Amino acid sequence: MNIVFLGPPGSGKGTQADILCEQLGLAHVASGDLFRYNLNNDTELGKKARAYMERGDLVPDDITIAMVKDRLQQPDTAQGVILDGFPRTPPQAEALEAIFAELGTSLDKVVYLNVPDEEIVLRLSGRLICRKCQATFHKVYNPFTTCPHGECNGEYLYQREDDKPETVRARLKVYHEQTSPLVDYYRQKGMLVEVSGVGSIADITAALLEALGVETPPEKRSD
Ligand code: AP5
Ligand code: MG
Ligand code: ZN
Repeated sequence: MNIVFLGPPGSGKGTQADILCEQLGLAHVASGDLFRYNLNNDTELGKKARAYMERGDLVPDDITIAMVKDRLQQPDTAQGVILDGFPRTPPQAEALEAIFAELGTSLDKVVYLNVPDEEIVLRLSGRLICRKCQATFHKVYNPFTTCPHGECNGEYLYQREDDKPETVRARLKVYHEQTSPLVDYYRQKGMLVEVSGVGSIADITAALLEALGVETPPEKRSD
């Protein structure tokens, strides 16, 4: 199963993709995480992406598409993927269809996580990230100061550079102008499922599983 998570910055794409990938055995392909990995390691790709990301702008399509294509060719994606943060423009959506066709697979569903702008500012101003595994937490809603994952050895959490209020506002504007048209694009293709992204993290996971029509394997259930 190949799924796209679409939604504004801070809608919970990363949080929910982490949980669902673990429960369903899918690979988590997050374009923002791939860019941040390159930024932190100061690669050529990181150097190209940095200025766009710091402003809250989208990185140009050709750079982004090449990076995601490369990631989708890795063997761990064969069981299916959740794409988080890609596609974000109509040309990216068309490129994704071509990439999947080349790989002999296709996109099954697009989940639109709907969260109002007021809630987003609250979420992003309190977000904390683990530099090692990129897991996401929140000062109030999911409070940790060090990463709870054993393999991260108590790594301290940090705030993303682009979570400053003025950059969050720029990212929201870019989302409404350039990415939100994809909601209608996928709705017209009959692939869209809309889930409210407001509520507890656990309730939203349950709503996503129901919307996708999938059962969690009993050994992965937390209840
Ligand atoms: P990216 O990293 O994709 O950022 P984004 O889309 O702005 O989304 P976020 O990661 O900010 O939010 P999220 O939906 O994952 O929410 P999260 O789960 O963390 O992109 C960053 C940049 O990279 C872009 O600006 C661009 O420059 C570039 N880029 C990336 N992809 C690109 C592309 N395809 N094309 C071009 N450029 C691209 O949750 C947010 C917070 O809320 C967390 O603190 C979390 O703990 C908390 N939270 C989650 N769920 C809940 C809940 N139910 N209740 C309360 N709090 C919650
Ligand atoms: Mg994210
Ligand atoms: Zn970690």
